[in-house]
Amino acid sequence: MNIILLGPPGAGKGTQAKRLQDTYGIVQLSTGDMLRAEVASDSALGRQVKAVMEAGSLVADDILIALIDHRIDQPDCAKGFILDGFPRTVAQAEALDAMLAKKRLKLDAVIEMVVDDAALVTRIAGRYTCATCGAGYHDQFKPTKVPGVCDACGSRDLTRRTDDTASTVNARLKAYHGLTKPLLPYYRARGVLHAVDGMAEIDEVAGQIEAALAKVGAVPKRAGKPAAAAKRGAKKGASPG
Ligand code: AP5
Ligand code: MG
Repeated sequence: MNIILLGPPGAGKGTQAKRLQDTYGIVQLSTGDMLRAEVASDSALGRQVKAVMEAGSLVADDILIALIDHRIDQPDCAKGFILDGFPRTVAQAEALDAMLAKKRLKLDAVIEMVVDDAALVTRIAGRYTCATCGAGYHDQFKPTKVPGVCDACGSRDLTRRTDDTASTVNARLKAYHGLTKPLLPYYRARGVLHAVDGMAEIDEVAGQIEAALAKVGAVPKRAGKPAAAAKRGAKKGASPG
């Protein structure tokens, strides 16, 4: 199962991709996370993209295409992958089509996460992440159970992204509306686009995504129960996505 999560900054792509990883046993490929790792390691690529990311602009297509082309070939992608943050331009979408055809892989679904711009700013301003295990939280919508301590791994190293400032968020939204939104008609024309209400609560969004994926034959690892419902039932002991 190979899917794309498409939506503006703060739509919940990362939140849902982590849940889908657990539910279907497929791997999250977040281009934002990959680029942030390059910046953190101060690699040549990281130095090249740092200022662009901090300004909220898009990194050059050829860099992202090469990154994903290489990543999809890794053994952990054999069962499938969730593209989170790629493609973001029509040129990237066309390159993805070409690389999937070359690798004899199929795109099963594109999930559009529909969220109002006003809600995105609140979501991004309140977001924080565990630097140790990557679990994502929100001051208002998904706080840690114990303030300052990651629910999943117990780390106290909780961080906020450097591109989560008010001015950068506006630039990121502009890039989404100008460069990424044209992907909606692109994928609608191919019959693979499924819209979900990204304004709903996190569990509800997960349920809508699972319903869309069921239509294209996706089977949760824990077959028999709808996976979002199973997750809600197990909420107390589960680590957050
Ligand atoms: P990237 O890291 O992909 O950032 P983004 O697209 O701006 O999206 P975000 O990660 O900010 O949001 P998200 O949708 O993952 O939301 P989340 O789940 O965290 O890209 C960063 C930068 O890298 C780009 O600006 C660009 O420079 C570069 N880049 C990356 N890919 C590129 C590409 N292909 N081409 C060119 N450049 C590229 O949720 C947000 C918050 O809301 C969280 O706190 C969460 O807990 C909360 N939340 C989630 N769902 C809900 C809900 N349903 N209700 C309430 N709260 C919710
Ligand atoms: Mg993200």
